[in-house]
Amino acid sequence: MPAALTDPLLLRWQALLARLETIAADHPDAVLASSMGVEDTLLIHALAQLPRPLGVFMLDTGRLHAQTLGMVDVIRDRYGIEVRVMHPDPAAVRAHVAAHGEFAFYDSVALRKECCGIRKVEPLRRALAGRSAWITGQRREQSVTRTDLPESQRDETFGLRKYNPLAAWTTDEVWAVVRALDIPYNPLHDRGYPSIGCEPCTRAVRPGEDPRAGRWWWEQRDSRECGLHASNLRETSS
Ligand code: ADX
Ligand code: SF4
Repeated sequence: MPAALTDPLLLRWQALLARLETIAADHPDAVLASSMGVEDTLLIHALAQLPRPLGVFMLDTGRLHAQTLGMVDVIRDRYGIEVRVMHPDPAAVRAHVAAHGEFAFYDSVALRKECCGIRKVEPLRRALAGRSAWITGQRREQSVTRTDLPESQRDETFGLRKYNPLAAWTTDEVWAVVRALDIPYNPLHDRGYPSIGCEPCTRAVRPGEDPRAGRWWWEQRDSRECGLHASNLRETSS
């Protein structure tokens, strides 16, 4: 057990490990979806402590920052974990760009959702196919669309169980554990990006600004989900 952690963080960390062990026992085929944000690298660090770590995948939309892509090597070097990198269907991307241009997401919510559908949601569907559960790094604090996020829910969109084991964690708790355990994190976090998504759809935020203010900043706050977590825009059930 890490010596650098003290109560109450130690209890939080131990509870997380116990939770992940239970998930792994109940669903040995469960996978962690990693955007390479700090929540996800914390979860990878936790998974690496399990007797039999679960798989990890990243949706490479083709529009991610170089720093985010670079985390795949960081994770391999540090934990020996090979992150499965999912890509969108190139023909669908080509058709969308040919019809609407490279930056259509700025034109309307509908076109933005179409782009997310092609670059994120369809590859996610493939990553989850045949699996009984997935794990995310979502937290209630992150967004007005996540205030009721349960730790465990039935994912009706993709037809499997979905775990959000960090749902109740605060930003301060995440960073305190990351510092105490020397967990690697995406360098964009030190450049004003509390929340990390695709490069053209994410900007740095100013101190004191809402942490998600930089995600799809030109849209209304309550539409800012990309389809990975569609249930956050409906009622959620545990
Ligand atoms: S998003 O839906 O707005 O993009 P956010 O960036 O807050 O989501 O991340 C929440 C969780 O969704 C992450 O902790 C991760 O589990 C999953 N996720 C988001 N983006 C990706 C991605 N590109 N690849 C894999 N998982 C992702
Ligand atoms: Fe496309 Fe932006 Fe969605 Fe990325 S976040 S898939 S670039 S609309």
